[in-house]
Amino acid sequence: MTKITIAIDGFSSTGKSTVARQLANALEYIYVDSGAMYRAVTLYAIHNELFYEEDPGLERLVAHLPEIHLGFVFDPRLGYSEIHLNGENVEKEIRSMEVSERVSQVAVVREIREKLVELQRSMGKDKGIVMDGRDIGTVVFPDAELKIFITASPDVRAKRRYKELLGRGEQVVFEQVLKNIRERDYIDSHREFSPLKKAEDAVEIDNGEMSPEQQFEKVLHLAKETIEQSL
Ligand code: DC
Repeated sequence: MTKITIAIDGFSSTGKSTVARQLANALEYIYVDSGAMYRAVTLYAIHNELFYEEDPGLERLVAHLPEIHLGFVFDPRLGYSEIHLNGENVEKEIRSMEVSERVSQVAVVREIREKLVELQRSMGKDKGIVMDGRDIGTVVFPDAELKIFITASPDVRAKRRYKELLGRGEQVVFEQVLKNIRERDYIDSHREFSPLKKAEDAVEIDNGEMSPEQQFEKVLHLAKETIEQSL
């Protein structure tokens, strides 16, 4: 069966990762959450105290890049891969509010993006991959056979994220979550390198009014159609 590359981009907390993972499972493709990679680099910077007000360009973090090793390790019990930072599973830690508040600052740095994009391309060199993020259809895999761009209003997304954080036992205030989402939207879509934007040939899906099942059916249908056309 022909294997294709599927790029799923969109704003934060649109549920991209969930649908991307479901799609990869259904197609027996590799799934890569590229946001987790930016989050893991952010976690490294927090652990190593590399955020300084007088270093907005994060030059100290850039100097540490050769020491940052990222990988996805498949967990057969879960049925999907989790991210490891220098050999340690950090999947849970990278989802904290502290990391969310710092990650956009890390994702604007050109050297960090270059390192991660290179790694992402090497993961997708044999196709058969679903990768989600912000610049997958525009920069990482501009030749992807299927590109999907997912949107929903900031309010809808903040409600989802708030529930998720509460479910994980984090003490959060809804307004703080909404503010973080709006700020990340702004930074992600206005940064100089690889800003978040819909690729011209991407299919846009607004999932504000869709159930997760409806969304999954839609992307699966698109993927099967694209695979058939690529035969
Ligand atoms: O998808 P996420 O919310 O876990 O992503 C975390 C941050 O990483 C997000 O604010 C933007 C950045 N990111 C990026 O710049 N490029 C990507 N391909 C993926 C994520």
